[in-house]
Amino acid sequence: MKYLQIAIDGPAGAGKSTIAQKLAKRLNITYIDTGSMYRALTYKVIKENINIHNKEQIINITNNVDMTISQDNIFIDGEDVTRNIRSQEVTKSVSYIAQIPEVRECLVRLQQKFATNNSVVMDGRDIGTHVLPNAAIKIFLTASIDERAHRRYNELIQKGEAVVYEDIKESIKARDKLDTERQHAPLKKAKDAIILDTTGLDVDIVVEKIIYIISQKS
Ligand code: C5P
Repeated sequence: MKYLQIAIDGPAGAGKSTIAQKLAKRLNITYIDTGSMYRALTYKVIKENINIHNKEQIINITNNVDMTISQDNIFIDGEDVTRNIRSQEVTKSVSYIAQIPEVRECLVRLQQKFATNNSVVMDGRDIGTHVLPNAAIKIFLTASIDERAHRRYNELIQKGEAVVYEDIKESIKARDKLDTERQHAPLKKAKDAIILDTTGLDVDIVVEKIIYIISQKS
C-alpha cells in the first residue's frame, strides 16, 4: 500500500500547525508536528540545567531520549510536555538545539519512521527538502513578518501572558535567521514546493487551497 505524504514547511507563525492539523483531520490521516519534537528535546535540556551551547551533553541526551508522540500530545520520559514546550524559554532556545546535526539526524529518523507506515501531513522546516524528499505534495507557507508576529502575539495574549509586540516580532526574526542560516538542513523552500502566502487569509481558505492542489495532483 502506498501512503500519502504531505510536507508543509515555512517560517515561524506562517500558520503551519493550525493548517496542517485541519488538513490532516479533513483527510483523516496522521498529523506530525516536527517542531514539537525539537521543542520537547529543548524542554528536557533546560530542565536538566544543561547549557544550550553544550553540544556534547545535548547529543548524549538526544541519543538516550524516550520520546513518544500521539495525535495530540508529546511525551518525554513519560512526562506529558505538550503545554510546557510552548513556553517562551523553550521558544527562545529551540533553534540553537535544532542546529546540531546529530540532534537533527536522530529526530529525522523518527519522523521518517512515522511516515513509513502511515499517511501523514508533516510540518516543519526541512520536511520537503530532507525528511520526505519524495512527498507527493509539498507546500511552503509564508506570511508577512507583521502578520506572523501579530498571530503569535495574539496567541500569547489569549493565554494570559504579559508580552510586548515588538519583542515577539524580534524573537520571530531571530528564530527565522537561525533557521534559514544554519548549515544542516536549513529552512528552505523545496524546488518542487508550491508557495502559499497566508497573509490576510483565513485558515479554512488555505486548507481548501491545499485540498484543491492535492486534487489536481492525483
Ligand atoms: O514549528 P515550531 O515553531 O514549533 O518549531 C520550533 C523550532 O524547531 C524552529 O524554530 C526550528 O528551529 C526547529 N525546527 C527545525 N526543523 C523542523 C521543525 C522545527 O529545525 N523540521
